Amino acid sequence: MCGIVGIVGRDAVAGQVIEALRRLEYRGYDSAGIATLEHGRLERRRAEGKLANLQLKLIQAPLAGAIGIGHTRWATHGKPNETNAHPHATDRLAVVHNGIIENFRELKRELQAHGIAFETETDTEVVAQAVSHAMAQGLGPVEAVAATLPKLRGAFALGFLFAGRDDLLIGARHGAPLAIGYGEGETYLGSDALALAPFTDEITYLEEGDWAILTREGAEIRDVAGRPVERPRQKIAAQAYRIDKGNHRHFMAKEIHEQPEVVGRTLAHYVNLAEGRVALPEPLPFSFADLTRISITACGTAYYAGLVAKYWFERIARLPVEIDVASEARYREAPLEAGGLTLVISQSGETADTLASLRYAKGQGQHTLGVVNVPTSTIAREASAVLPTLAGPEIGVASTKAFSCQLTVLLCLALHAGRERGVLTAAEERRLVDALITVPGLMAEAVKQEGEIEGLAREIAKARDVLYLGRGTAYPMALEGALKLKEISYIHAEGYAAGELKHGPIALIDESVPVIVIAPHDAIFEKTVSNMQEVAARGGRIILVGDAKGAAEAGLDTLATLTMPDLDPVVAPIVYAVPIQLIAYHTAVFMGKDVDQPRNLAKSVTVE
Ligand code: F6R
Repeated sequence: MCGIVGIVGRDAVAGQVIEALRRLEYRGYDSAGIATLEHGRLERRRAEGKLANLQLKLIQAPLAGAIGIGHTRWATHGKPNETNAHPHATDRLAVVHNGIIENFRELKRELQAHGIAFETETDTEVVAQAVSHAMAQGLGPVEAVAATLPKLRGAFALGFLFAGRDDLLIGARHGAPLAIGYGEGETYLGSDALALAPFTDEITYLEEGDWAILTREGAEIRDVAGRPVERPRQKIAAQAYRIDKGNHRHFMAKEIHEQPEVVGRTLAHYVNLAEGRVALPEPLPFSFADLTRISITACGTAYYAGLVAKYWFERIARLPVEIDVASEARYREAPLEAGGLTLVISQSGETADTLASLRYAKGQGQHTLGVVNVPTSTIAREASAVLPTLAGPEIGVASTKAFSCQLTVLLCLALHAGRERGVLTAAEERRLVDALITVPGLMAEAVKQEGEIEGLAREIAKARDVLYLGRGTAYPMALEGALKLKEISYIHAEGYAAGELKHGPIALIDESVPVIVIAPHDAIFEKTVSNMQEVAARGGRIILVGDAKGAAEAGLDTLATLTMPDLDPVVAPIVYAVPIQLIAYHTAVFMGKDVDQPRNLAKSVTVE
């Protein structure tokens, strides 16, 4: 989490630093700050809260320096106030940091023993003081950073600016992403390519342990041992990095509405329409026919996509699936069969726990397959094979279009696995592919319920608790629905397998608790109807998300019925994602919440 940027430019860079930070704000918005050199002297402006607060400060007290660093923070150590806001500085240097310095207490004690006083509660200040201390011993900036980096434990990306050195920035990467961008007489540092896209389309991603010395002429990269190394320059597609809300009020709304298009784009990448079969863009380095089971790991919404996929792999490909959240999977020390497969799912491709699970699986001799939205991310680079989701940049902190694209890729992969394992006939594959290619149109149909959902949101907004129920693949969708609602509206919500209701949660039901039942008309629909009846009998207010046939069959008095188009139940999770997201979105908007940047959250969780 946290976003960092650095620019060694030609003219005043404050405006560019702010523009880059705006593109990094999805990584955290607890505070923001900037430091530049004014006639060789370090000057900082910092503000608690969103970037807009920092922009106000810069209007009141502008900065003119042609070299600068900036930061947007997701607080880990220390309250999100101005004192703890980055950049942290001494009279010699300023530093911005993404990640955690795990041994900061130990380093702090050592520095305090040398009489150094600390001003903040952050782990980052230790880095500033350690490099400054090394410089006080007579080392130059580059040597001081080189001497300090090996002492730091944890996962971090750092950017340094030095007093009196208006042609020098230093960046370092250890466990958190960092890119260098090249311009005309300008060089840039950023947590991702998205941040640098307004200035350049030429990028180098630093590798683990790399650090770099940036001047206006370019960058000299060194590896963990301090040896100069060459890292490839890549062209990024500027078009893919446009970020605006279009005609929508929020990024989340835009991203929900974009789904028919991006799911269609993703499908086109994985399906051979003429032959009515799945055709993966690249051959995989293993065959599903050789596997006896697979492990899936991911976090949050991506984990729920994996949970839906478990149903698909087990039913369609007759392949057992073990799935766990990455924060548990990485520490469970599960025995994983050498030559087996671990599938990791991640929008950002940078989630620390997911990355650690991938590395664990690799260490056990497994193939690793990443379903990833950011193609240049660490997970995409480290996995033995990658299946991209083509959702485009997702800016809203709550994941929407990345989720539906993950589901799309995973269903295609389950069909591919079924064929390789000889359990899916060509006719059945064609039937399922036919169902899949109707999905973008069905999603567009589902969006038409938006007016109805907007009205319903006013009711949901009154609730203190909301329950989501579903069976089969609708169960993980219930979990996802509850997550979406709680993260952006702050209403307490829980998802349950509908059959679990009577084992405890039914005690919660009364007329104040809306119960959102996700019930496509599938083979177990009748079982879900029984559960709805149990809810209705206890005065529960049901919101049914289902199709017209199901609603008629259920014949229940509901608070509302959101009528979804008729479809093959296999593809229901992808289509039903739309109403689930719209319910959360409109409830939060009605309640006046900040849907794109909900409190306490950040989009790219690079700390464990
Ligand atoms: C919820 C949400 C998070 C992410 C999770 C994993 O709306 O966005 O739960 O799904 O933090 O992130 P990625 O997919 O980037 O690994």
